[in-house]
Amino acid sequence: MTVKHKYDVLVIGSGGAGLSVALRLADQAKILVLSKVSLSSGSTYHAQGGISAVLDANDSIESHIKDTLTAGAGLCDVDAVMVTVSNAKKNIEWLKDQGVRFTEEQLEDGTKSLHLNREGGHSHRRIVHTADTTGKSVSQTLIDKATAHENITLLENHNAIDLIINRQKQSEPRIQGAYLLNTVNNKVKSITAKIVVLATGGASKVYLYSTNPDVSTGDGIALAWRAGCQISNMEFMQFHPTCLYHPEERSFLISEAVRGEGAKLILPDGTRFMEKYHPQQELAPRDIVARAIDHEIKKHGIDCVYLDISHQPADFIKQHFPNIYQRCLALDIDITQQPIPVVPAAHYTCGGVVTNLQAQTNITGLYAIGEVACTGLHGANRMASNSLLECLVFAEIAANNISEQLPSLTYPDPAPAWDNSLVSEPDEEVVVAHNWDELRQFMWDYVGIVRTNKRLSRAMHRLEILKQEIAEYYANFHVTSDLLELRNLVIVAELIIRCAQQRKESRGLHYTKDYPETDNTTPPKNTLLNPVTKY
Ligand code: FAD
Ligand code: SIN
Repeated sequence: MTVKHKYDVLVIGSGGAGLSVALRLADQAKILVLSKVSLSSGSTYHAQGGISAVLDANDSIESHIKDTLTAGAGLCDVDAVMVTVSNAKKNIEWLKDQGVRFTEEQLEDGTKSLHLNREGGHSHRRIVHTADTTGKSVSQTLIDKATAHENITLLENHNAIDLIINRQKQSEPRIQGAYLLNTVNNKVKSITAKIVVLATGGASKVYLYSTNPDVSTGDGIALAWRAGCQISNMEFMQFHPTCLYHPEERSFLISEAVRGEGAKLILPDGTRFMEKYHPQQELAPRDIVARAIDHEIKKHGIDCVYLDISHQPADFIKQHFPNIYQRCLALDIDITQQPIPVVPAAHYTCGGVVTNLQAQTNITGLYAIGEVACTGLHGANRMASNSLLECLVFAEIAANNISEQLPSLTYPDPAPAWDNSLVSEPDEEVVVAHNWDELRQFMWDYVGIVRTNKRLSRAMHRLEILKQEIAEYYANFHVTSDLLELRNLVIVAELIIRCAQQRKESRGLHYTKDYPETDNTTPPKNTLLNPVTKY
């Protein structure tokens, strides 16, 4: 495969969002899709529960909108919610046309229809899925399709270091391309593109415990911030209530769909506790369930709580959750017989790069889609299975907008070459490893599920020291993937802390003991961070 130096569209990220936009544009544009590691390295591949869409005759678009707004705790952008929800069915059809095979059920009249899961916050069954490995089937299908398309070049093991922006005086800043590190030979090259789409996923690896794969280091958010984009709502980091608690499997998710099929949360002595916290109990919105578990763990001084589905018939469990059943069994946990040890873990980044409803950022020619973006859909708390839906809907919207722009665009000037004349080989890589660990530990301890003013300032204080050390290291030594990720994580951590410090109330995923109530005296506002870059 030959990689050229210029493309119509550079897509950074090969998850659900990146591959969808690439496939939708491929008949009319030359596209380069990047992945930091393998093509299936993102969160998309690991998605379990499924994709929300109104498909049941008793369900309605209005109900999906209402549930999303309720979960979002007053901060969702209503237009973003309406656009996303009303385009769901069409996008599920598109995935089926690409070849994704969703789980079906036989109806009483002998016909088949898609089986729908139930998850927290949803008032109806509306989650389309492929057993409990939805992400794998979506990811593999889209990768196969993209691999077969002659206009799409797929480039693995390339880490986007920074965006290149043309900032000529008198004109608005415009995207010009990006610098990439080939992580196999450690060489840097620049790619010029008429349009760049950020589809780099979320930032949950900023926390010690996370359900996310290693690539979720918030690179797109940091790249966009350094380039001059607005960032919003970073205080709303979502903690999934039920990550498996086991020393050999630190980030395996136990899908919310398990609770959707009646699983109960219990303490080690078998007592249920969710009725104390919310009328919807185990199916309350995620922020409430995660906080309840965190509270019970701290109150009783225990390591984990348990999720029990063993009252369901064994065949039902094996058929609905084959992957979860097998993964737990391999660790000697037979979920048909015994409860599953679980803890909350960082799962999803609700905030991110601010986009309008065309997926455009405030830099001309730069788009952001999927988890990296903040479209306004999720507000203060994402409802389960609305994320893959957002990836698909905004990939389609971005593709339509880009295809209107492309005919009038010429290639920008070639991007300046990477200058590494002043740097040398790293001397003490232990610094990078140590700082990674330290950052993720204090983010977990001080900026996690329950926050206080004091904890946030402690975290900010430690961050300042790390920032300085990393900036020095970056200026003096050749870049490595670990260093680039750490440099991005430090920025993401700062953005989370700054947003959390701005919010003087508890709302959705942001809970602080210093302001435990939601402020209903004034209309709720998004936190918005404006870049320091001057044009
Ligand atoms: P990702 O799929 O994360 O892809 C990011 C891509 O960007 C990767 O290819 C990565 O290599 C690349 N990348 C990152 N940084 C760089 C860089 N610097 N240079 C080059 N490439 C880069 N949501 C649902 O709606 N339903 C579910 O059932 C569901 N289950 C989930 C289960 C798990 C375990 C997890 C972790 C998440 C789940 N989510 C679910 C959330 C959802 O999967 C993600 O939000 C969504 O898949 C994000 O897709 P994306 O395309 O934006 O990013
Ligand atoms: C899950 O299956 O519980 C994850 C669903 C999601 O994050 O939307």
